[in-house]
Amino acid sequence: MAIVKIIDENRTVTDRQSVAEYLMARGVRCEHWTPAHPVEADSPAEEILKAYAREIERLKALGGYVTADVIDVNAQTPGLDSMLAKFNREHWHEEDEVRFIIHGHGLFHIRPEESRVVPIEVEAGDLILLPKGMWHWFDLCADRQIRAIRLFQNSSGWTPYYTESGVDRNFQPMCFGPSYIAPQV
Ligand SMILES: [Fe+2]
Repeated sequence: MAIVKIIDENRTVTDRQSVAEYLMARGVRCEHWTPAHPVEADSPAEEILKAYAREIERLKALGGYVTADVIDVNAQTPGLDSMLAKFNREHWHEEDEVRFIIHGHGLFHIRPEESRVVPIEVEAGDLILLPKGMWHWFDLCADRQIRAIRLFQNSSGWTPYYTESGVDRNFQPMCFGPSYIAPQV
């Protein structure tokens, strides 16, 4: 279940409804889908997309998305660091960023207001929908793996536009949720 850190108040929101409400008030849709479909997390992408076809169609109708795929990265992925370097700096897109997490963990930082950064940790079962134009960046957690369904409004894909604010450098890319267990290194 997604977890939000409220930095000003030095507290973490873990209750599902409170997380959803806190984020929705800032323009971010967050849902947790339970029970998830009985499809293995390491199934071929086509099987994942087939299992979640109904939810994908619902989201397509909701946000005008036209395509869906499955992104799969882990510590063995060639060029992982250079791939991550594209997304771990504050940026925005001309379309929504929609992810449903199948496996692994991820850490979004969003900046819905000039002076407020909100870290959001996501795990399997979480849907997160950042609206187009929202400033954000993304890191993996220490397990360095994530598998997620992505939806796109434009079949040509999306491009990150960097804000170059440097705000991202003030935040540690550390996952913080109680369900997150850092792997032994
Ligand atoms: Fe992004």
